[in-house]
Amino acid sequence: MTVVHVETLLKDWDGEEVVIRYDRPTGAWIIIAVHNSQFGPPGGGTRMKPYPSLEAAVKDALSLSRAMTYKYAAADFPLGGAKAVINTPPDLKPEDRPGLLRRYGSLVKQLGGLFMTGPDVGTSPEDMDVVGETGSPHVRGRTEAAGGVGSSAPPTALGVFSGMEAVCERLFGSPSLAGRRVVVQGVGGVGASLIDLLRAAGAEILFTDVNEAAIGRFRDEAGLQFVSPDSVYDAPCDIFSPNALGGVINQTTIPRLNCKAVAGGANNQLGEPEDAERLRVRGILYAPDFVLNIGGAMAVTGMETMGWTREQANENVRKVRQNLRQILDMAEAEGVTPEAAARRLADLRIAAARP
Ligand code: PHE
Repeated sequence: MTVVHVETLLKDWDGEEVVIRYDRPTGAWIIIAVHNSQFGPPGGGTRMKPYPSLEAAVKDALSLSRAMTYKYAAADFPLGGAKAVINTPPDLKPEDRPGLLRRYGSLVKQLGGLFMTGPDVGTSPEDMDVVGETGSPHVRGRTEAAGGVGSSAPPTALGVFSGMEAVCERLFGSPSLAGRRVVVQGVGGVGASLIDLLRAAGAEILFTDVNEAAIGRFRDEAGLQFVSPDSVYDAPCDIFSPNALGGVINQTTIPRLNCKAVAGGANNQLGEPEDAERLRVRGILYAPDFVLNIGGAMAVTGMETMGWTREQANENVRKVRQNLRQILDMAEAEGVTPEAAARRLADLRIAAARP
């Protein structure tokens, strides 16, 4: 893989600020990217995992922060886009983790509100409790014991599920998922909650994951059909639902897809912008990821800072359904991809909010 230097990544990025800190005690790199503050105070999750290089970690932080900007604006939720990535050494010892999280929290605190954070891939509400020890009041999504509202996975899944209802409405004339065949890629927090909702709705579920324990739980205990990670793209289904990492919808996988729609919770599902058009050419309906996966950030922020009850939060997250419906209408009327329509809607909202 060609390495793009940090200079080039930053020059080519359309965001505002990047803070990079080397954490000497652990050898981790902390990257905080603030993409856009025009729509509200910037916030986004903290992704924590080993990356192959600093460049790869910076690149991910920049594109994930941009996704947050579009996510909030497309949902008309008044926050700005930002994201943190903690690139940990592959051999980070569990006992060194709390110290790293506390130093990260201090950095967030130092930024004085330039950035607020919550959980993401590789971090949990328990981790947010630790970050919050030093990073308060800029930390969302702590455990209930620590005064937060707990996991953001269930509301994220509710938003994705609501988006799937809009997809079914468009494809089949009814929002019901009963009898629809859905392939769930990734059964981590969001994927697992999504499976609960899909089961309750009577969908036929296939799943894949790389984690042996998760595979055992869902195949052997819950009795769901398992598809291997390699063959998942070929599985015939109504909806293919990416809920793990990004970049899975690309030039290589699109020709293989055997689905009518792609709708999932993972951030940055498309390998490159052209993939939206490639899906359209193949007649596959793409529900833009940033429209569907707002639920966690919205519900957690709403309940912790805006006084929403859980019922109000869920009610607001369910609006993903009518929001996606509107975006699909726009796309059809303008002859563009849903991705392009959603970006345009978000851009218009940001421009209108600009002082
Ligand atoms: N991980 C969430 C996302 O990608 C971000 C988030 C969750 C932010 C919870 C705040 C609170 O949308």
